[in-house]
Amino acid sequence: MELLEGITTRRSFRGFKSTPIPEETVKKIFQAVSNSPSYTNTQPWEVAVVSGRKKDELSKILYDLAAQNAVTNPDIPMPQAWPPKMEKRTGEHGARRLAALGVVRDDAEGREKLRLMNFEFYDAPCALFLFTDGALTTWSIFDMGLFAQNVILAAHAFGLGSCLQASLSNYPDAVREFLGMPKAKKLIIGISLGYPDIAAKLNTYRSVKLNPDDFVREYA
Ligand SMILES: Cc1cc2nc3c(=O)[nH]c(=O)nc-3n(C[C@H](O)[C@H](O)[C@H](O)COP(=O)(O)O)c2cc1C
Repeated sequence: MELLEGITTRRSFRGFKSTPIPEETVKKIFQAVSNSPSYTNTQPWEVAVVSGRKKDELSKILYDLAAQNAVTNPDIPMPQAWPPKMEKRTGEHGARRLAALGVVRDDAEGREKLRLMNFEFYDAPCALFLFTDGALTTWSIFDMGLFAQNVILAAHAFGLGSCLQASLSNYPDAVREFLGMPKAKKLIIGISLGYPDIAAKLNTYRSVKLNPDDFVREYA
C-alpha cells in the first residue's frame, strides 16, 4: 500500500472477524514499527501482544471491572473537560456512534452496552497494550503516540483494522498483574487489532474530519 493512501484510508474499526492474525504478519508489523522516531532515539516502548485464551481472560477481567463501575486509575489522567469546539466534536462523535448501533441518547442500557464493547476488544482476535517506562516525561508519551500511529498504519498495510482505546488503560494495575508487567511500566493505551468485519453495525460509523483550512495557518 502506498504511504499517502495508507494515511488517508486508515480509520478506526469497532467490529472484527474472529480470523486470527498470522504470527508472521505480527512480526512484520513490529519489524516496520521498530523504525519509529523517538526523543534522542530512546525508543521508550514495550508492547504486550495478547491473543487466544489469554486475550479472553484479560477481556473478562477488564469487562467485569468496567461492568461493576470499579474506580478507574489510568496512568495517564483522562481529560475532564474540553474547549467548546472540541466538546462539540466529542459530543457528535458519541452521538453518531450510538446512532450506528441504533441506540438513542437516553437509552442508558444501549449506552452501557457500547461502553462495555471496548472491553470485549470489539471482538478483535488480538489486543495490544503499549507501555513505557514510568520515570519518563511527556516527551516519551509523545514518542508513544508516534509509535502507536505507526502500529496502526503498518497493520492497515496488511489489511488489518484497529481501534486505539484509552478505555483499555482504565485499569492499569489489573493489566500489569495479568501480564506480569512491573509497576514501573506505565500503560499508555490499548489497541484492538484484527481483520475488520465490514458488516458490523459500529463500522458503519465514520468520523467527520476538519478541512485543512480549519487548522493550517500559512506564513510566507
Ligand atoms: C488517544 C485515543 C484514545 C481513544 N480511545 C478510544 C476508546 O477508548 N474507544 C474507542 O472506541 N475509540 C477510541 N479512540 C478512537 C477515536 O474515537 C477515533 O480515532 C476518532 O473518533 C477518529 O476516528 P478515526 O480513527 O476513524 O479516524 C481513541 C483514539 C485515540 C487517538
